[in-house]
Amino acid sequence: MKNDFVVTPWEVKGEIDYDKLVERFGTQRITEELLRRIKKHAKTLHPMLRRNIFYSHRDLGWILDEYEKGSKFILYTGRGPSGDTHLGHLMPWIFTKYLQDSFDAKLLFQLTDDEKFLFSESLSLEDTKKYAYENALDVIALGFDSKKTEIFLDTEFIASQYRLALKVAKRVTFSTAKAVFGFDNSSNIGSIFFTSIQSVPAFLESERQNKAVPCLIPCAIDQDAHFRVTRDVAPMLGYPKPSLIHCKFFPSLTGSDKMSASKTETSIFTTDAPEVAKKKIIDAFTGGQATIKEQKEKGGNPDICSIYQYCFYIFEEDDEKVRELRESCRRGGILCGECKRELAKRVAKFLEQHQKKREKARDKLEEFVIKD
Ligand code: TYM
Repeated sequence: MKNDFVVTPWEVKGEIDYDKLVERFGTQRITEELLRRIKKHAKTLHPMLRRNIFYSHRDLGWILDEYEKGSKFILYTGRGPSGDTHLGHLMPWIFTKYLQDSFDAKLLFQLTDDEKFLFSESLSLEDTKKYAYENALDVIALGFDSKKTEIFLDTEFIASQYRLALKVAKRVTFSTAKAVFGFDNSSNIGSIFFTSIQSVPAFLESERQNKAVPCLIPCAIDQDAHFRVTRDVAPMLGYPKPSLIHCKFFPSLTGSDKMSASKTETSIFTTDAPEVAKKKIIDAFTGGQATIKEQKEKGGNPDICSIYQYCFYIFEEDDEKVRELRESCRRGGILCGECKRELAKRVAKFLEQHQKKREKARDKLEEFVIKD
């Protein structure tokens, strides 16, 4: 059932209806008018905007109003380091890099090693710290500007965040936390407090500069719940509400479901050997017919095909080529094997390059990572 899906920061399941999600969460769709305004400043529109992958927002118009008045915004995003980075995580970060370059924006990147410790049965604080540093390599490898980017682990930057976290926590009741996140009497008390920590970077720059600094948060829509809370408390603390820009989920290789770190066979990790990634792609679900003959006669269905989705989301920047691929698939002009081999080649090349940059990033950690 299409109505049966769940999207929370800790669980995404079912067939997601992204339009319904906008209604459920009370966000806004990104309009043509907003796209025009972004393009005016950024010069180019990122494919993820042109393709409606970043499709929803909160107060994006206000961020642009402020920008046009000369009040620059900061960017804030993050990662819960529970394992290696997969391609889905990269999506909002690739987009954040585009925003940093286009709007000359400072970025705060929060690694919530505390969150993943609190919400996992099996991960120790040592594990989440180790993953945090591994994940930071992926962020750095994407080419963020070290002069404009600060990355921090919560456990290593807590003194700088704690006062703000307390101010947030004091204004969020247990009943709100239960309603927003579904906590119950068996939830550990750290997890109930945690949303106040994820709120902090939205206010940190205002606090540091002692003036209202607008903040834009790019993320997938699963993180919205935290920021509903953040936005509710902002006026009580005298800070501007952070704005958000939300993306849809990069799918798994099954064609449905989001890419998820717990499903290793159908997710591609930035640390996968290119040959391993290729094999995952060759084994992936497609929208093709059972036989070549049928495929040529009836054509395939790109809408349910993971291979097509991969091109659409990340691996083909040219809109015309995406359109051609779609058409060709529909009329049976291309076979699944060909499509898979082409994508496997692209993904393997991307991974080879990314992994080299990732290794170089080990020497740059100190330029990016801040501590108390
Ligand atoms: P985490 O580690 O679950 O996810 C990191 C970022 O990746 C997004 N994401 C995806 N985007 C596209 N396709 C997918 N399949 C996919 N899976 C995950 C998430 O929305 C997120 O943007 N609590 C957070 C960490 C965090 C954070 C933030 C995230 C702290 N501060 C501010 C965004 C903004 C977390 O566990 O994210």
